[in-house]
Amino acid sequence: MALPQGPLSHRYRGEHPVRTLLYLFRPDRGRVALAVAVFFCKHAPVWLLPLITANIVDVVVRHRPVSVLWWNSAVLLVILLLNLPLHLLYVHWMHGSIRRMGTRLRSALCHRMQQLSIGYHSRVSAGVLQAKVIRDVEGIENASQQTADNGLAAIATLSGGLVVIGLQTPAFLPVFLVIVPAAAVLVVRLRERLRSQNESFRLEVERLSSRVGEMTTLIPITRAHGLERTALRRVDRTLGRVLDAGLRLDLLNGRFGSLAWILLNAIGVGCLAGSALVAYYGWLDVTPGAVVMLSAYFSGLTGSVTTLLTLTPQLGKGLESVRSVGEVLQAPDLEENSGKAEVAQVSGRIEFRGVGHTYPGGEEPSVSGFDLTVRPGETIALVGGSGAGKSTVLNLLIGFLRPTGGSILLDGTDMEQLDLRSYRKFLSVVPQESILFEGSIRENVTYGLKDVPEETVRAALRDANALEFIDRLPQGLDTVVGERGARLSGGQKQRLAIARALIRDPRVLILDEATSALDSRSEALVQQALARLVEGRTVFVVAHRLSTIRNADRIVVMDRGRIAEVGPHAELLRSGGAYAGLQAAQLA
Ligand SMILES: Nc1ncnc2c1ncn2[C@@H]1O[C@H](COP(=O)(O)OP(=O)(O)OP(=O)(O)O)[C@@H](O)[C@H]1O
Ligand SMILES: [Mg+2]
Repeated sequence: MALPQGPLSHRYRGEHPVRTLLYLFRPDRGRVALAVAVFFCKHAPVWLLPLITANIVDVVVRHRPVSVLWWNSAVLLVILLLNLPLHLLYVHWMHGSIRRMGTRLRSALCHRMQQLSIGYHSRVSAGVLQAKVIRDVEGIENASQQTADNGLAAIATLSGGLVVIGLQTPAFLPVFLVIVPAAAVLVVRLRERLRSQNESFRLEVERLSSRVGEMTTLIPITRAHGLERTALRRVDRTLGRVLDAGLRLDLLNGRFGSLAWILLNAIGVGCLAGSALVAYYGWLDVTPGAVVMLSAYFSGLTGSVTTLLTLTPQLGKGLESVRSVGEVLQAPDLEENSGKAEVAQVSGRIEFRGVGHTYPGGEEPSVSGFDLTVRPGETIALVGGSGAGKSTVLNLLIGFLRPTGGSILLDGTDMEQLDLRSYRKFLSVVPQESILFEGSIRENVTYGLKDVPEETVRAALRDANALEFIDRLPQGLDTVVGERGARLSGGQKQRLAIARALIRDPRVLILDEATSALDSRSEALVQQALARLVEGRTVFVVAHRLSTIRNADRIVVMDRGRIAEVGPHAELLRSGGAYAGLQAAQLA
């Protein structure tokens, strides 16, 4: 399927949901038009039935020729039989188009999530995004399907009825024209309120979704501390709010439906009585058959208008989902890469020029006045207390965060001018928390690379000191690690993450606490491997255990976002500053 995000990202307008919906159906518009045409044909029995009934009643009452009866019955039977093939065609075209629209929308959402900045993803919970891709798109599909099925039926009955009445008993046409404006007034009056109720209900459901997501991730901690009640209370409060919002919405919908029903039936009774009186006193030439026909059309038309009215809440819910999806598709927080210079080669020279970063909403800068020039192939270690800003510097280097002051130059070019996606092809990151996905060890290690020879995979795993435990697993490289690597120990996950970084043969290697979950023996082994692997690459490594970084070319000691000291291990020890203090504390 063609990738839809290009046009979608430009044209998507959540504030005009109807236009957006029409836009989403554009690729299928031919099929939708065919479906509508087929629907009108297949629906013909419904609006022809009163006419045929009238003809047959008049055969009996007015003694018309019996052949009229046979003809009318035959015509009716034929169109009834035609219903099956026509209905299948309709489902094929209309429901098919709706499903394709849903698929396009889901795909566009996933595309957009890949473009949104890491900052956006740290603000918006995964649960909320999941709810949008799953629930909202389903809501749009359902609303479209119901609008199509019921709405077309109502419109077909309505227009067919009006045509027949216009031809047979034109004097009654104005009566019907009263119904439509009356209904329209009702719809307009309630629409705004429905909209705001729909929105608050949706927001509550999204909150619930992120609460439940949070609860499931917290389950091990919750249970370990016997905090089940606390966790459930948190969810209960959100459940209560969803209930309230849902009930308010239901009541409003109920009031809407009931009012519409009463109003329209009252009009229907009035019309029936009126047409009977006209026939009774002979004011117009109305046959008994015509009274029966008019009465049938009254109820048919009333039914259709009621259907259209009750569709309003459903359609409102669907349009609210369109708006909800729009929140993601229109989010301005994109990582802007298009049109920027592609990086074809990286030698690994990195200059930080007075780099500062303050998180949105943060008062103090997390990093400030960071000045450092790194030669290609140099290994830089970042040390410092928790919260000193080490991970922030690494995230600036990856381009997940943008400097709020100063600039970062890669091989002499400001990173702001580079297509970060092309730069990151030369980058490998072992994050503070290893992230694996449901799949085999091989798939996890070669993630994003094609046709990697067995030997290369094994070599990377050997270098990461992971091979010994993998060879002990019954399925070896093809062992499935469970969702998020649930079936591995912390240290095992970390070694796989290191292997994944190494196999990409990066020019710049970033290790954030990459050896924290290893025991001293494995750490020593990984250390040796890393010592070989840092050759010819620019490496940034964060470690709390100072033994790990003793061999770094330079050590940057950070304190509250600033550089306190820079230099090689021996020199920093001699000078007796902050680093010497940290070292003494660790040895103590
Ligand atoms: N997403 C965020 N939003 C707001 N503030 C943040 C965010 N991430 C980090 N901070 C703040 O920035 C400061 C530096 O955090 P950072 O993660 O860089 O520390 P660190 O040196 O890596 O610490 P650690 O050794 O514990 O990993 C901290 O004070 C932290 O509270
Ligand atoms: Mg950190």
